[in-house]
Amino acid sequence: MSTAGVAEVQRWVRAARRIVVLSGAGMSQESGVPTFRDAQTGLWAHHRPEDLATEDAFRAAPSMVWDWYAMRRAKVAEVEPNAGHRAVAAFQRRHPGRLTVVTQNVDDLHQRSGSPGVLPLHGSLFADRWLDPPRACCQAQPPQPGHPPRCAGCGNLRRPGVVWFGEALPPDVLAAAQAAATACELMLVVGTSGLVYPAAGLPGEVSAGARVAVVNPQPSALDDPAQAVLRGTAAALLPALLAAD
Ligand code: APR
Repeated sequence: MSTAGVAEVQRWVRAARRIVVLSGAGMSQESGVPTFRDAQTGLWAHHRPEDLATEDAFRAAPSMVWDWYAMRRAKVAEVEPNAGHRAVAAFQRRHPGRLTVVTQNVDDLHQRSGSPGVLPLHGSLFADRWLDPPRACCQAQPPQPGHPPRCAGCGNLRRPGVVWFGEALPPDVLAAAQAAATACELMLVVGTSGLVYPAAGLPGEVSAGARVAVVNPQPSALDDPAQAVLRGTAAALLPALLAAD
């Protein structure tokens, strides 16, 4: 594992014309949003992903699944972006077009902190859509309220606008993320266990000579190939790394 430290990564930030921030649930942990795989507080410590985060699960128990996402949406609406989100957005304001945010998070906290052009690989909690391809009746009137809302004409259900296990990522977003990864000189991998693909494959798509720096208080599956592994949190380290002008 590399021993490059904060000061060296700061130099890489100053030198890089193109930077990608690839973020995961740990990016929002200090805002009060639980991660997925933390043994105690993680969402998957208390629920089985296959019971809540698949299309089959939704079709089998639409109300339970809808209400679980509604609970998460309500929780996220109560919290604020943290110093890590804000440092990324501030860097983007100071250096337009130099940093691209690619996120696995569905909480929209990067967007709420003012980051432009965020690539949400796994969708958003705030963008529900029709479960089945909409018919004329679905488009003709607002969905009937309910858990979940449904089409009064054909009963088509509204579903959370997130990418569920077994589903493909939005191809345009994935293609843009891969292009950003290939073009960058530095990728900051922040707050992800690196266990879920294709997102976890993006650090491996950087070009020869480009560097990858991991920001995570715990070991992750992306540490070994990285040129730097910084044991700290997003809100503590990103302001330091991105303060450089
Ligand atoms: N700052 C930085 N990293 C942190 C912090 C923090 N404050 N707190 C926790 N972490 C790290 C953990 O050590 C862990 O490695 O964040 C990581 C979170 O990992 P996961 O819970 O597995 O979340 P993530 O990698 O985003 O999951 C990927 O899996 O469940 C699916 O679709 C879901 O997008 C999600 C995907």
